[in-house]
Amino acid sequence: MLKVIFDTDPGVDDAMALLYLHRHPGIDLVGVTTVFGNAPIEITTRNAQYLHQQWKIEAPIAGGAGRAYDDGRDAAHFAPVVHGEDGLGNIGVPLDVDHPLDERSATQFIIDTVRADPGNVTLVAVGRMTNLALALKADPQIASLVKEVVIMGGAFDVNGNVTPAAEANIHGDPEAADVVFTAPWKVTIIGLDVTLKTTMSSDYLAKMVEAGPSELKLLSDLSQYYIDFYRQRVGLDGMALHDSCACVYLTEPHLFEVRTGPVRVVCGGLADGKTIQAPDQVRKYVGSAWDGVPSQVVCTGIQPEAVLE
Ligand code: BDR
Ligand code: CA
Repeated sequence: MLKVIFDTDPGVDDAMALLYLHRHPGIDLVGVTTVFGNAPIEITTRNAQYLHQQWKIEAPIAGGAGRAYDDGRDAAHFAPVVHGEDGLGNIGVPLDVDHPLDERSATQFIIDTVRADPGNVTLVAVGRMTNLALALKADPQIASLVKEVVIMGGAFDVNGNVTPAAEANIHGDPEAADVVFTAPWKVTIIGLDVTLKTTMSSDYLAKMVEAGPSELKLLSDLSQYYIDFYRQRVGLDGMALHDSCACVYLTEPHLFEVRTGPVRVVCGGLADGKTIQAPDQVRKYVGSAWDGVPSQVVCTGIQPEAVLE
């Protein structure tokens, strides 16, 4: 079984990804850590508690960062237009959710869990990379103890979704993402290049709800607002399964095409949050910004129908 810590900012597509990890027979969800992003940290953490309560998920939840890695950065911008004011499609999540939280911070939870099982824990991060960067800062040695890091974020050969240059998870904390991508561990990055090609229509979702387990009723309810956003604002007949793509990659990597090379993030200016990969085969660039940066894996192609299935 693949042991996974899921670092998330629920978030509608985060909710689907959480259910996928919970129900997948080959995945052992050993913990969930929350981060600010789609909504403030109090809300994303409460949403994780709510989803655990409703779906009877037993993995511990540790609350994480509520602001950016770099103190000077104003990162208090959320996504109510995409995910609703409550982060879960305005379904009316109760203000108090009776579900326990781990006593540790997300950072400490990640460090402890990785150290307890060296080489066997995969980190899947589908929000801002703040918790991962803070864990690396507090305990740099975890880089060699983690099995793999899989993240949803970035836009390499396509435009971003917050600015023409930047995707939301990176734009929300570029310094943290740059720390994560340049650390000596294996990172696989699943960005808008592939996630925007993988959409689920409302018909598909309705058929799934009819045929599938009862958990899908809540997933369908909270997805309606997000589906409307994609229809009205993006012009897509279906919702993008951003975070689920990263989770499918864990057990079905053959459904993705990849490219390797060092990755860095633009921090500041017009292209703030832009992800750039220097392909390995053209390692001829001058300048210390790329010297010694390890190669990472960027997904450039996907088989959407198979991933959807
Ligand atoms: C990413 O940003 C968030 O809105 C989604 O949950 C996803 O992780 C897509 O850009
Ligand atoms: Ca997310």
